[in-house]
Amino acid sequence: MKPRTSNEIRQAFLEFFNELNHEIVPSAPLPQHDNPTLLFTNAGMNQFVDVFLGKEKRPYSRATSSQKCMRVQGKHNDLENVGPSPRHHTFFEMLGNFSFGDYFKEGAIRFAYDFMTKVCQIPADKLYFTVHTSDDEAYDIWANKVGVPPSHILRMGDKTNFWMMGDVGPCGPTSEIHYDWGPEACTCGRPDCSVLLDNDCDRWLEVWNLVFMQYDQAEDGTRTLLPKPGVDTGMGLERITSVVQGTPVNYNNDLFAPAMDRVQAMLGDTAEERQEKYVGYRVIADHGRAATFLIADGVRPGAAGAGYVLRMIIRRAARFGRQIGFQQPFLADVAQVYIDQMGEAYPELRQRAEHIRHTLTQEERRFARTLDAALSQLITILEEMDEKGEKEIDGQTAFNLYATY
Ligand code: ALA
Repeated sequence: MKPRTSNEIRQAFLEFFNELNHEIVPSAPLPQHDNPTLLFTNAGMNQFVDVFLGKEKRPYSRATSSQKCMRVQGKHNDLENVGPSPRHHTFFEMLGNFSFGDYFKEGAIRFAYDFMTKVCQIPADKLYFTVHTSDDEAYDIWANKVGVPPSHILRMGDKTNFWMMGDVGPCGPTSEIHYDWGPEACTCGRPDCSVLLDNDCDRWLEVWNLVFMQYDQAEDGTRTLLPKPGVDTGMGLERITSVVQGTPVNYNNDLFAPAMDRVQAMLGDTAEERQEKYVGYRVIADHGRAATFLIADGVRPGAAGAGYVLRMIIRRAARFGRQIGFQQPFLADVAQVYIDQMGEAYPELRQRAEHIRHTLTQEERRFARTLDAALSQLITILEEMDEKGEKEIDGQTAFNLYATY
């Protein structure tokens, strides 16, 4: 049966690969305690880096997971896109299948195509496939083994079709699967609108990235071959859910809509008001979810590292909350929606529900006090400027306000 809800899609993905002899591996926690270059897990393959490098052996050569990811720092950072963008998030779930010296390009491509077209029943003519310009082998598999028409296979360069986790480590050329929302969804307005332009046009949604892991990159940029080539794939659950549910804006699918509905009910907004305030609603739905998962994984708001990021996203959500009409802490209620909805897939949410709600409310209160103090200081500064006939706050003062409050 075709999966419909996000919970069903996650389950269907893991079962599909499990039937193809992939071990279902639980998500690693979000904080990366032992990694000096990465604060948070940012891809499904993070927990398998040493397996790809041949330094660690596992009792399986195929794995699948639904990995909790955060992209708010380092090489992959989507923070500023959250709100305006219909498809970027701080926290997201990455569905992945992995081969450690087992199958390579053909297996990865066939499995992905079957999951999309047979399990999710996405019409093949809505899908476009990119390969690295140098990758004739992947091109040949799509064209001649899977039978995709050449007009749907695109060759692209390193920027889109070569993937690495950070500046060092396992990496390789990729093949991406894009979904076409149709010409009516075009926002770039170019007559030659295409995935090839790579211009963030809303018509095209990158859904799945298949990485053909081949190299280990050293700090000086040199690449050596991995002991055995492997496969690392990542598909955003938020995006595939949007495709299955026909919602070009991720926030309208069943991962976010319940939280957005809760915000609307709390504010007593009409549908028009909710639409007008959409950036604030999205930031709250996104950051509220990210904060919920971070706290469940043991992060506490603080002044440095992971704690700083948690504090920043709670405060960013609280600031948008004020702008759209909240006068009291509200994030615990948003968190509860996610705890109810995702607690089965991620039991830590239920186990730590009370602690999550309490931490959020406490941080919102602390921030409200800080903001009140900052605002009264700002008023004083503005009054002094007025007396001197000045019109611009100097850089030093602006920096102090920003850094302190
Ligand atoms: N590791 C790859 C990515 O994050 C699949 O896109």
